[in-house]
Amino acid sequence: MSKYSIITLEEVQSTNSYALEHIDCFEDGTVVYTPRQISGRGRYNRKWISDNTENLYVSIVLKPENTQSYPFANLTQYLSVILCKYLEQEQNLKPVIKWPNDILIDGAKISGILAESDMKKNKINAVVLGFGLNVNLKQSTLENIDKKAVSLSVIKNKTFDTENILKKICDMFFESYNSFIEEGFGYIYDDYVKRCGFLGQNIKISEAGGKKSYFAKSIDNEGFLLVNDELNNECKILTGDILC
Ligand code: BTN
Repeated sequence: MSKYSIITLEEVQSTNSYALEHIDCFEDGTVVYTPRQISGRGRYNRKWISDNTENLYVSIVLKPENTQSYPFANLTQYLSVILCKYLEQEQNLKPVIKWPNDILIDGAKISGILAESDMKKNKINAVVLGFGLNVNLKQSTLENIDKKAVSLSVIKNKTFDTENILKKICDMFFESYNSFIEEGFGYIYDDYVKRCGFLGQNIKISEAGGKKSYFAKSIDNEGFLLVNDELNNECKILTGDILC
């Protein structure tokens, strides 16, 4: 297993922002954790709702040695597989990945991932791989989220120890991290695709010009979503959000 260390902050604006602001102080494998974020950030500048309960907000600092061969584009997909395995093995749940990296339980979002990078001299110096896992969020907070969302405590009707969950997820992440960076997306291809929801279905994707309808066919060997458009032309979706 590659090494990691956890820094715990009582409260912070955003673990991703904190990690990026202090990036030169952190070694590869530093995990910044807080149970409370004041202004958590999501993909596409959205908010990541937090409240005062003990929840799980995490940023993993990664400083790749060999940036040429590093599978940057698939890092969030690797983390999504690890989070699914945690939910399956430790919580007996059946998570589904909504391409590229949202995790849903029965159609409700339980986890989201936001990767950001720090550049030095036009090269990636570090990646901050952030994730939020809804552990102890209450039903009343979940109802304030604009999309259907759920937490472990609502599903299991109990309160969880967030630090135990974090350690387990970090062990799982760093256990196979070296194999992933050596082999790239191929290392997780089967594990990723078998958990991907929406394949074989009609979907809508939000794009710069608005919503577009497609038929979701498969995931290619780089992790992109292959779809057919309304005229039955095959398209490769590089970035975006499946709306549901
Ligand atoms: C998304 O689904 O839009 C991604 C959400 C990512 C939220 C996490 S919580 C920890 C880290 N710090 C942040 O400000 N955002 C990420």
